[in-house]
Amino acid sequence: MYFLSAILDLPNVRSACIAVTLLACSWSPAAFSATPEELFKPIAGVVTHPRCLNCHASGDFPTQGDKQVRHTQMVMRGDGHGLPTLRCVSCHQTSNSADGRIPGAREGWQMPPKSMAWAGLSAAQICAVMTNPAKNGNRKTSQDLIDHMLKDDLVHWAWAPGLDRTSPSLPFDQFIDALKTWSKAGAPCPK
Ligand code: HEC
Ligand code: HEC
Repeated sequence: MYFLSAILDLPNVRSACIAVTLLACSWSPAAFSATPEELFKPIAGVVTHPRCLNCHASGDFPTQGDKQVRHTQMVMRGDGHGLPTLRCVSCHQTSNSADGRIPGAREGWQMPPKSMAWAGLSAAQICAVMTNPAKNGNRKTSQDLIDHMLKDDLVHWAWAPGLDRTSPSLPFDQFIDALKTWSKAGAPCPK
């Protein structure tokens, strides 16, 4: 392009070419140069956060708090919604309780199936199960994952968890941006 504008030697052509070059460069340069580790790092910080892992737990019960201790009151996973006699939604309503103590969400508070358990896994392992349609609820593309995170109220809850609970340090919008950059690069998982 510089070659072309040099031949023509028209300032307006040259600036148009520079504009085109800049545009091309601003289109997600990170997706081309970054390693899978670098691309997944900001995502890893979110998916390994206790707000996610307390539901994406691996045992027969959810966990609670930043230390991910066993849920009190003998709450069990059951069919994901708790035991028939002690359902999650008996306590967890469609929004956080007024005092913030009991978490809640429109989506219906429940545990994901065990195939989506992430607690105890490394970031690379979470990436592998998260992108595996046999384990992730048959989500075939990284765009399907992004759509889930954009829509799902249980995901959003992690950034407004009530009381003095911590949230992932990456703001939600930047989490989505990081997912899009990772997705454009082919959603590679770290080794
Ligand atoms: C209240 C419990 C709860 C919390 C908190 C929660 N999830 Fe989930 N998550 C679920 C349930 C239930 C499903 C299964 C729903 C489905 O497949 O549509 C799920 C499924 C998913 C899936 C799709 C399946 C997969 O394994 O790829 C992703 C991605 C996900 N959650 C991300 C997150 C992230 C990121 C956070 C934290 C920011 C989070 N979730 C917090 C309950 C929770
Ligand atoms: C008897 C009432 C009750 C039932 C039933 C119940 N919970 Fe809870 N849950 C609570 C209370 C209260 C808290 C807040 C604990 C605290 O932080 O002090 C809580 C906290 C949690 C948290 C922790 C949030 C965090 O990140 O610290 C998760 C996850 C959770 N519940 C999941 C579930 C799931 C899944 C079910 C059903 C299988 C369920 N709960 C059933 C009362 C209940």
